[in-house]
Amino acid sequence: MSDTEHEAALQQAADWLRLAERVCVLTGAGVSAESGVPTFRASDGLWEGHRIEEVATPEGWARNPKLVWQFYGARRANVALVKPNPGHFALVELERRFGDKFTLVTQNVDGLHSVAGSKNVLEIHGSLRHTRCTVCGAVANRALEPLGDAPECPQCRGLLRPHIVWFGEGLDDDIWMAAMEAADACDVLLVVGTSAVVHPAASLIPISKRRSKEVPAKVIEVNLTRTEASAHADVGVYGPSGETLPKVLERLNA
Ligand code: APR
Repeated sequence: MSDTEHEAALQQAADWLRLAERVCVLTGAGVSAESGVPTFRASDGLWEGHRIEEVATPEGWARNPKLVWQFYGARRANVALVKPNPGHFALVELERRFGDKFTLVTQNVDGLHSVAGSKNVLEIHGSLRHTRCTVCGAVANRALEPLGDAPECPQCRGLLRPHIVWFGEGLDDDIWMAAMEAADACDVLLVVGTSAVVHPAASLIPISKRRSKEVPAKVIEVNLTRTEASAHADVGVYGPSGETLPKVLERLNA
């Protein structure tokens, strides 16, 4: 993409946002990459040295909960050290502009959108900051301090698990309904830093373009490269989101 095409894409994204009444944002690991949180689909097919089936499935948990907690303990420790980047902050600014007509749907479990100051955040894949009791089901917000490899529920002494949606598990119904409603109702869907290969998250993109509404949403893709979402995108802004999102906001405010 030439500099002129890139500039035109930034301007187009800003112009559509200026005309929008409702905005929905879908983010993935790429938005946190510049904060130092690794993305998932590394070329070796491993996730920080583990196969996904070992550490992020109900079967892996049943086989070896200690290993799963060691893996999530390391991810929690990493997230405790990182900070939101200008891409997260640009989305906070966007929410300020749209108020309650703004929804941020994230696949990320690092909690960095909320740390940055985003308010209406739907964490559809759960959160590294929360635990869930495997016996009584209580969900608790835990600071990112070490929990060891067999943490117990303070209420019932049951084994706690990470409050994360693993492969093969369903999303929380209420959170997913809210995400679908936001995608269906928006005029602009901003898709940031996701490979758009994991469903149902990626299906928010076609939902936003459904013809059940008078005018389908404009889909703006923000990514380093083209992805599975690109075919649905009305415009693609290619480059690191920590650089490109603030530029979109600059043009929106100009
Ligand atoms: N700026 C913008 N995009 C970036 C950046 C960056 N600085 N760095 C990487 N990306 C893009 C990559 O090009 C890729 O398209 O971010 C995307 C990251 O893709 P994945 O690693 O597949 O992450 P994600 O799409 O969030 O994965 C979805 O899959 O592993 C599961 O549950 C997990 O929520 C996760 C889901």
